[in-house]
Amino acid sequence: MKRILNIGLVLVASITMVSCFDTAKPNYQYMPNMYEPMGYETYSESDAFFNDQSAMLPAEGSIPRGWQPYDYEDSNDGLLLAKAELKNPLTVTEENLSEGERLYEIYCAVCHGEKGAGQGILVKNEKILGVPSYADPGRVITEGGVYHVQMYGLNSMGSYASQTNELERWQITQHVMNLKAALEGTPLATPVAETVEEAMAEAVDAVMDEAESTSEEEN
Ligand code: HEC
Repeated sequence: MKRILNIGLVLVASITMVSCFDTAKPNYQYMPNMYEPMGYETYSESDAFFNDQSAMLPAEGSIPRGWQPYDYEDSNDGLLLAKAELKNPLTVTEENLSEGERLYEIYCAVCHGEKGAGQGILVKNEKILGVPSYADPGRVITEGGVYHVQMYGLNSMGSYASQTNELERWQITQHVMNLKAALEGTPLATPVAETVEEAMAEAVDAVMDEAESTSEEEN
């Protein structure tokens, strides 16, 4: 009898404890400041703005930091135009070339092959077809075109715009143009210095020397 009473008591106690718990509402908070932030939570509800959200859409025309608009459209005409007029803004340096090679081997070599002859591992294993050699005379590959296909992809080749940034795409392009030159047996682009900073310092020196020698001549 005493046992049944005990069991009964425990049962009643646990039911009373559990029954009032509302899963839809947070439980009693002993230290609310630990849980409720003072600042607005990203994407949370808030009365700070008219749409009851703490996040607003960016103002029209805003662009992410470090991102440059790309004006050539994703079409055959866009590719032809980029091929004709878009130029690599990077100076040829050892750093740019070696970084371009490193990235090329990560992103492109599986299909295009380390030498750019279109004989990557996926081609050899017959996983993909139609990968051209950079020396393919029918394609007239130029630096603008190499950049363009990295932005948008081309048929079965995907876009690399989300994996690489603008600098990296131009570094890859610098390496691809050297692969093309090697395949065609034409001269490679030779680095003017180790890094861009060095190239600039050298250019400044050259201008200073020039200025000095002309002023000497004048005297
Ligand atoms: C999944 C395989 C694959 C990968 C990876 C790949 N490509 Fe391609 N690429 C192709 C194929 C296939 C074509 C031919 C597309 C066509 O003309 O239909 C092509 C074409 C090209 C062309 C020729 C464009 C023209 O003017 O006709 C260039 C340049 C090129 N790729 C550069 C790159 C670079 C740079 C990378 C790395 C960032 C890369 N590709 C990665 C498959 C690939």
